Amino acid sequence: MVDIILLGGPGAGKGTQGELMAEWLPLPRVSSGDLFRANLSQETELGKQAKVYMDRGELVPDEITIGMVADRISEPDCANGVVFDGFPRTVAQAEALDDLLADMGRQVNAVLNIEVSEDVLLERLAGRWTCSQCGEIYHRLFSPEKVEGVCDKCGGALYQREDDNRETQLRRIRVYQEQTSPLQDYYQEKGVLVDIDGEQSPEAVAAEIREAVQPLLV
Ligand code: AP5
Ligand code: MG
Ligand code: ZN
Repeated sequence: MVDIILLGGPGAGKGTQGELMAEWLPLPRVSSGDLFRANLSQETELGKQAKVYMDRGELVPDEITIGMVADRISEPDCANGVVFDGFPRTVAQAEALDDLLADMGRQVNAVLNIEVSEDVLLERLAGRWTCSQCGEIYHRLFSPEKVEGVCDKCGGALYQREDDNRETQLRRIRVYQEQTSPLQDYYQEKGVLVDIDGEQSPEAVAAEIREAVQPLLV
């Protein structure tokens, strides 16, 4: 059983790397942001609550977020471990995750800290397009689709996320620095933090991640 966290600012490449890991690691990726966006598009009560915060680039309150993730990881496909993307994002969430995993006889095995400077984060968010059908992530300059506006994988239409406007991007970066970056110390103290140089090509970042994760699988 292996539980891995992808930690990094908005645009660091958590989603991109999570997708690449799925090609060789037989674990589901649980992205709190994707779960919120699914709730938003299905217009659930939880989605309505979360939207207010997401539109502002702020964190959704811990109770809501922790409950949603706890439900998700109790599903059968998560029994052998999970790749967490965008969760935990506060110390309270990290403590709650420790408790949830401990109840299942598990613990966080590795935290992949994808390091990317603020300038590069903004550059990446500005050019991001996402598939409305399958969630595949593209970038206008760095990883463009073959036919403009159309997903290579499934033919779905690409869209820009609502929180990918400059004001919200800057707010998300601030929020990351204030509320989420303390998790680096939290996991460093537990001896599970692994720094990953996020300012390389997606393939090079993926290779560094694979090198860090492979030893955990034996
Ligand atoms: P969330 O969806 O998690 O957004 P985020 O943290 O802002 O991260 P992003 O998804 O924007 O970036 P990413 O790291 O996945 O980068 P990506 O791979 O797309 O959260 C959204 C909101 O939901 C939050 O603001 C909050 O309100 C709420 N929320 C979610 N989780 C929560 C929690 N735990 N607690 C409370 N609230 C929560 O890549 C970005 C772009 O760069 C893409 O275009 C990609 O193609 C490109 N790219 C990626 N890697 C590279 C590379 N190596 N080289 C060049 N380009 C690259
Ligand atoms: Mg993401
Ligand atoms: Zn698609």
